[in-house]
Amino acid sequence: MTLFPADFLWGGALAANQVEGAYLADGKGLSTSDVLPQGIFGPITQREAGDSCLKDQAIDFYHRYPEDIALFAEMGFSCLRVSIAWSRIFPQGDEDAPNEAGLAFYDRLFDEMAKHGIRPLVTLSHYEMPYALTQRYSGWASRQTIGFFEHYARTVFARYRDKAKYWLTFNEINMALHAPFTGVGLPPDSGKQAIYQAIHHQLVASARAVKACHELVPDARIGNMLLGDIVYPLSCRPEDLLACQQRNRDWLFLGDVQARGAYPAYMQRFFREEGIELDIHASDLVDLRTTVDFISFSYYMSGCASANPDFAQQAGGVLGMVPNPHLPSSDWGWQIDPQGLRYLLNLLYDRYQKPLFIVENGLGARDEVTPDGRIHDDYRIQYLNDHLIQVAEALDDGVDLLGYTSWGPIDLVSASKAEMSKRYGFIHVDLDDQGHGSLERRRKDSFYWYRDVIRSRGQTL
Ligand code: BG6
Repeated sequence: MTLFPADFLWGGALAANQVEGAYLADGKGLSTSDVLPQGIFGPITQREAGDSCLKDQAIDFYHRYPEDIALFAEMGFSCLRVSIAWSRIFPQGDEDAPNEAGLAFYDRLFDEMAKHGIRPLVTLSHYEMPYALTQRYSGWASRQTIGFFEHYARTVFARYRDKAKYWLTFNEINMALHAPFTGVGLPPDSGKQAIYQAIHHQLVASARAVKACHELVPDARIGNMLLGDIVYPLSCRPEDLLACQQRNRDWLFLGDVQARGAYPAYMQRFFREEGIELDIHASDLVDLRTTVDFISFSYYMSGCASANPDFAQQAGGVLGMVPNPHLPSSDWGWQIDPQGLRYLLNLLYDRYQKPLFIVENGLGARDEVTPDGRIHDDYRIQYLNDHLIQVAEALDDGVDLLGYTSWGPIDLVSASKAEMSKRYGFIHVDLDDQGHGSLERRRKDSFYWYRDVIRSRGQTL
């Protein structure tokens, strides 16, 4: 087995709205996640009605982070991916002055990580923005939101410049195509014209954040974050190959803009044929020329694309993929494909020639606590082991990879379903879908497995 590099960043990945809870504590404003109690594809609710939601408390990371970070350190983490809840820093999104109590929380969090030698990888926006921005400005439909985001980004870069050296702009920027409210703050039934315009504003904001990071924290590195939405042709028919190429370009174009600094030529045809006319200012084209330092991505599953309408109409699941008849699926219908990770790593490295970072990967599964209080999650170990073997293959292929942060190293609220039943953690949290439980943390079998993988630099895989 290939020895992973000595400076490889090993760890896990979290998102503020799925772990912190304390959803209105210390001056935090409502975020878009706070009004989606059933998850990112669910209905938007009015919190004034008094309804509660599992994410309001989540796993109470806001108060329990010292205990959780100590457990991550026990596994040997050198890196922890977290996100900053924008609405803790700017509760309404459009204020001039930040909320000091919100800033102070992330000071405490980063300081605690530093005590254990764990480096933060910080996402500026992970599936949330201040809800007020969607009410007052229609979210990313407004060009003004670019300025609010840049102000927020500059505020946190300046504040944490000595504490955080790895940054990401927008989590899974392509999710706007599947969940417009979560991605760009637009109503779920928005048309393509509105969605692509909002994405354009977000791309400009991302580039401006990269520029700001380079100015304010010159020794930091900042990346984008793509949902690895990879599909294969369902058959070797040429028309299936072209359908597949188009389906992959649907999301790769975002990486093309962020890594190469301009819209790729093929998008002109796409916009023309879809009747989309973007309002792009000359200054936007200049802004977009600032490109990311590295490419980060999530990878859970792969699927297929087909030009044959009989098969194409089978496309489903959260990402609208045609099922691959050769792959097994998780209990949530996500098709498991470890070799797809090697393929994707090579594809992205060939395409961008920039360092890569796997910032999410994992298996959502139901766990059972045995009477002696243990959790034998061999299915999770199998999934992660198989994927990491393919990561080692990609390293051998010559891919430049900065690190690997598995998704949800501690159980957290699922994004798509806002439930606890779908667990990813090495650490179990006693909490059910109704919000009942002691919140006690317990090490699963996978906890010891991951500790050994990190300690051996992959030799135990
Ligand atoms: C990624 C998101 O798409 O998938 C995470 O960045 C999310 O926020 C993860 O939790 C897994 O999805 P789910 O729906 O199983 O929580």
